[in-house]
Amino acid sequence: MAAQEEDRDLIVNTDLTYPVCIGDDTRPAVLSFLQHRAQPYVVLCDANPNVVALARDIRGGKDCLGVLAFTLGESRKRLSTVERVHEALLAAGADRGTLIVGVGGGVASDLFGFAAATYMRGVPYVHVATTLVAMVDAAVGGKTGVDLRKGKNLCGLFADPVAVFANTGSLETLPYRLLREGLAEVLKTAIIEGDEFFDAIEALSPHPFWRWPWLEIVAQAIKVKTMIVADDRKEAGMRELLNLGHTFAHALETASNYRVSHGVGVALGLRAAGLLALRTGRFSEEAHLRVLATMALLGMPLRTRVRAGAAFAAMASDKKRRNGTLRFVLPVAIGDVEYGVTVPDRMVKSVLAQLTRSPEATG
Ligand SMILES: NC(=O)c1ccc[n+]([C@@H]2O[C@H](COP(=O)([O-])OP(=O)(O)OC[C@H]3O[C@@H](n4cnc5c(N)ncnc54)[C@H](O)[C@@H]3O)[C@@H](O)[C@H]2O)c1
Ligand SMILES: [Zn+2]
Repeated sequence: MAAQEEDRDLIVNTDLTYPVCIGDDTRPAVLSFLQHRAQPYVVLCDANPNVVALARDIRGGKDCLGVLAFTLGESRKRLSTVERVHEALLAAGADRGTLIVGVGGGVASDLFGFAAATYMRGVPYVHVATTLVAMVDAAVGGKTGVDLRKGKNLCGLFADPVAVFANTGSLETLPYRLLREGLAEVLKTAIIEGDEFFDAIEALSPHPFWRWPWLEIVAQAIKVKTMIVADDRKEAGMRELLNLGHTFAHALETASNYRVSHGVGVALGLRAAGLLALRTGRFSEEAHLRVLATMALLGMPLRTRVRAGAAFAAMASDKKRRNGTLRFVLPVAIGDVEYGVTVPDRMVKSVLAQLTRSPEATG
């Protein structure tokens, strides 16, 4: 049975320097990885009971110095928590030769990854992802960090893990609200990739999530992200593609004082990017409506109460902060996305206003 389960693991040997292993239950694979490294390790986990249960099973043999749980959440993604993690690592006997294994969602991967990269000037890090956001986004790509009072992710560094495990069985305990956060990124990736990936998501969209082949979906989303990231480790160009829908998302999040979550912002941003692409003659109405229909079936919000003026002001201040012009990532077709597009402000404002109205009829 265990062997069969291991057979279900997919190792996405990406273009990155580290392996990404995806499985319904990655515990045997994590343990075998740790055994091969034969190095002392500490397990750090989110204090959510579902996550702690998984983390405890990674305790393995004598090399494990301890399993330490931390209450996380976005409000605790702060330097003060990193300090607590460092103190706890020291108390557990971790030194420069210790490996850190982090278990949890995107907050855990950002914060524990950052803590590992800065503990004693940096120790190796492994992440076991338990939310869809962590699996398809946060845990791969090497971005780690914490929030400052003035904004999200303002303190951090690029630090690649030595391995990532996406434990898709964990998705069973994830509430829909959190699953949707990751689904918006999956859909974004499917629009970038097109081909069979978008077709698969479209075909699955009427079906309940428990019937979805998560292993394959997560693997495909990771492949697309890592292919793009490997080409462009420091975000000079290509990585921009992954920002499809994100200029709008960030504006809606800021203008709503974060009442609009990132995933909801991305969903709305995908509609907005489609609308802008339609208006500038890039995208076909048929393709736009396919995306909208899929989002509707996935239960993603297509309209918002956030006022266009407030969202535009947030975009403008972001632009000022970056000392540049507003550039958008827009779809040209499903499977063909263009970045660095500039459009007249009035068009952006009008698309933002349209987000407060009913979606385009999807027939
Ligand atoms: N570094 C990057 O490239 C990158 C990319 C995307 C997102 N992020 C970051 O990721 C964070 C969001 O990630 P998230 O949505 O995973 O948030 P999260 O880590 O806070 O997890 C969301 C909630 O789910 C709980 N949880 C975790 N696993 C669970 C499970 N298996 N079952 C039930 N509950 C579970 C957590 O305790 C938490 O309450 C943000 O801080 C964002 O900035 C980073
Ligand atoms: Zn995102």
